[in-house]
Parts: sequence; C-alpha cells; structure tokens
Amino acid sequence: MTAQQTGYTVAILGATGLVGTHLMHILEQRQFPVKTLKPLASKRTAGTTVEFKGQSILVEEATPEAFEGVDIVLASAGGSVSEALVPEAVKRGCVVIDNTSCFRMTEGVPLVVAGVNDEDLEHHSGIIANPNCSTSQLMPVFKALDNAFGLERAIVSTYQSVSGAGKEGMDELMDTTRALMGRMEGNTENLSSAPDNKVFSRPIAFNLVAQIDQFIEGGVEDGYTKEETKVIHESRKILHRPDLKVTATAVRVPVLVGHSESVTLEFAQAVSPQDAMAVLEHTPDVVLCRAPKDFPTPVEATGKDPVYVGRIRRDTSNPEKGLNLWVVADNLRIGAALNAVRLAEVLVRRGWLKPGKPHPEAASV
Ligand SMILES: NC(=O)c1ccc[n+]([C@@H]2O[C@H](COP(=O)([O-])OP(=O)(O)OC[C@H]3O[C@@H](n4cnc5c(N)ncnc54)[C@H](OP(=O)(O)O)[C@@H]3O)[C@@H](O)[C@H]2O)c1
Repeated sequence: MTAQQTGYTVAILGATGLVGTHLMHILEQRQFPVKTLKPLASKRTAGTTVEFKGQSILVEEATPEAFEGVDIVLASAGGSVSEALVPEAVKRGCVVIDNTSCFRMTEGVPLVVAGVNDEDLEHHSGIIANPNCSTSQLMPVFKALDNAFGLERAIVSTYQSVSGAGKEGMDELMDTTRALMGRMEGNTENLSSAPDNKVFSRPIAFNLVAQIDQFIEGGVEDGYTKEETKVIHESRKILHRPDLKVTATAVRVPVLVGHSESVTLEFAQAVSPQDAMAVLEHTPDVVLCRAPKDFPTPVEATGKDPVYVGRIRRDTSNPEKGLNLWVVADNLRIGAALNAVRLAEVLVRRGWLKPGKPHPEAASV
C-alpha cells in the first residue's frame, strides 16, 4: 500500500502554540490524509495532550529521535528550535515545512505562498520555508498586479496583531488592557502607568509599537527592523523579482488576530483603480472589497481563508501609475498554518514529497 492510500505520519513541531493549534485544526478541516499525528513541543508541555479528530493525543518532547518514521513535519516552534531540529528531521527522511524565519533566505530552500509560486516546491531538498505573515498576504495581490501591469515599487506599512507574537503576545495585550482599564477611571494620565511589558518593547494596550523584531545596525538597512526587511527580501524571492523596489514600516497594534497593511504600488504602465479591481476580482485567494465603505477589518478577516483587499484608489502623488490599497488577512491562517497545510497538499498532489533536482535558477532566486 502506498502512503497516499493510508495517509502520512505528520509531526507538528510547536503543537501547543498558536500556529501549532491552527495547523492541527486546518489539517482536520481540509481532511489532509494524516495516518498518525505526532505533536511535539518543549519539555515544559511534554506529557500534556492536544485534540485532533476528536482524540486526545499525547505531546512528546521534540528531540532528534522524535522524527524517526515521520513523513512530513510542520514546524512552528521558533527560529532557534528549527535551526537545531529541522536538519535532524531532514536527516531522518522527513520533508519539513518551516514557519520560522530560519531558512527563508537560504539558497536552495523554496520560499512559497500557495497559489503564487507552487512550482518552486518541486526543487526542495527536504526543507520548505513558509514566509513571514505580513509578506504572505501581500503575495497573491502583488503577483496578480505584477503580471497585469508590471509592478515596479511597493511601499508597505503594516498594522500587525499581537497574535503574530504567539500566545504570550495575546496574553500581554489582554492582561495589560484589563490592568489599565482598572487604573484609568477616566483619567488618561494613568495610561502611562501601564504594567510591565515583556513581549513587546513598549506597552501594547491602547498603544502602537513601531518595532517588530530587532533593529538592524549598519548598512543601507540601518534603523530598519528585521520584520521590515523580511517583507523586502521575501517578496523579491517569492516573486522572482530581485529588482523589485520594496520598503516597509512594521507596527504592532492592539488587535488580537489579523494583520492589516497599507500599500502604495507603482507600476510600469498606466493603471486605474478600475483596471486593478478587474484583475483582483478574478484572483484566486483574494476577495475584492470594491466599495470604499466596504473596507475590510482584521476582526472580519479572523478565521477566514482569503486575503481581503479594499480602499483601492489612485495615489494622488502619482495618479497615472500609482495605486493605494488596504490589505487584510488572518495572520494565523494565510500567514502561517493555512499556507503550510496548502503547501503540504501541493507536495502530495504533485508527487513532490521526495527531494527534487535543484532549481535551474537556484543562484538567482
Ligand atoms: N503567530 C503568527 O502569526 C506566525 C506567523 C508566521 C510564523 N510564525 C512563527 O511560528 C513560530 C511559532 O509561533 P506561535 O505564534 O505559534 O508561537 P507560540 O504560541 O509562542 O508557540 C510556540 C510553540 O513552540 C514550542 N516551543 C518553544 N520552545 C521549544 C523548544 N525548545 N522545543 C520544542 N518546542 C518549543 C512551544 O512549546 P511549549 O508550549 O512547550 O512552550 C509552543 O508549542 C515562530 O517562529 C513564529 O515566528 C508565527
């Protein structure tokens, strides 16, 4: 019997986390052929259980040996864990779809958004990288508009929810909001007496934090955060457009789930909002919110699969070739778990689970 007939042994590295929980839910929802599920996490939660298909399954400690006999690993336990354990899994014959930033820019590792650059999956060597959440949701939109009008430049400002920082990020927003509400009693001066923040560099309740990940020092990217440079470099790799001009400002906002992005695009040819809408209306995975008043919000996008695009209008500073857009999606789904499961589906469907030949353009992508 082939694996397709019986299903696959799938390990979830980081099964007790936000992305891990969504991975299991989406595997179940999309009826991915799982023969055996292996939830892995740290020593802290090994021995607890997770729910999958109505069963409680024991969480095991993630060790190199835990990957013996596993076909597919969906990894979301942080960059340092992936750095240590993903090569061990590959050594044991697993294909790993990694949600962390560890291997995204590594030469020869495909960085893929399902439906955008699926063909890149064929040339993996055991590791496939899932892009950063703020990059992923932009890609179906950028790809479609690039194909139609020749994208030349993108200016991106992100409004990223706290769930992008995992379960501790969500807890910090909830805890600090409750604490501040108790203290304020109509006196806004008390806003500055926010309780200690640990996950975010400034208080996140009733606030905005213009820092996601570490600041870069030196070079042309001096003063950018790593999150911002991920949008720049990952977009170019996914779209096979090393020449694409991209810049970004990433901001953490007190929203629980759903990333929103304000995007200004510049094209090689003249393009009107109506031209762009005519393209996006037929773009898979994109929902066009045509009327200005129908703009999408992160709350409405939560728990949904598509990328929502609204507020499409001319860039008044470049009215012939420039457009402004508002792009919203569930960061835990399209930005992480849903994309990972869709990539696994493509690997299975196209018979690409086993490592393929190197990509002919490997040096340039
Ligand atoms: N949240 C998003 O929107 C998003 C999107 C794209 C990518 N990602 C990436 O996905 C990863 C996880 O994100 P998350 O939001 O799910 O974080 P999270 O809620 O904090 O969960 C982290 C998971 O990693 C496990 N873990 C931590 N240290 C470990 C270790 N030493 N060995 C084995 N497992 C360990 C945790 O297990 P314990 O419960 O045992 O601690 C938990 O299951 C991060 O790298 C993140 O950048 C997140």
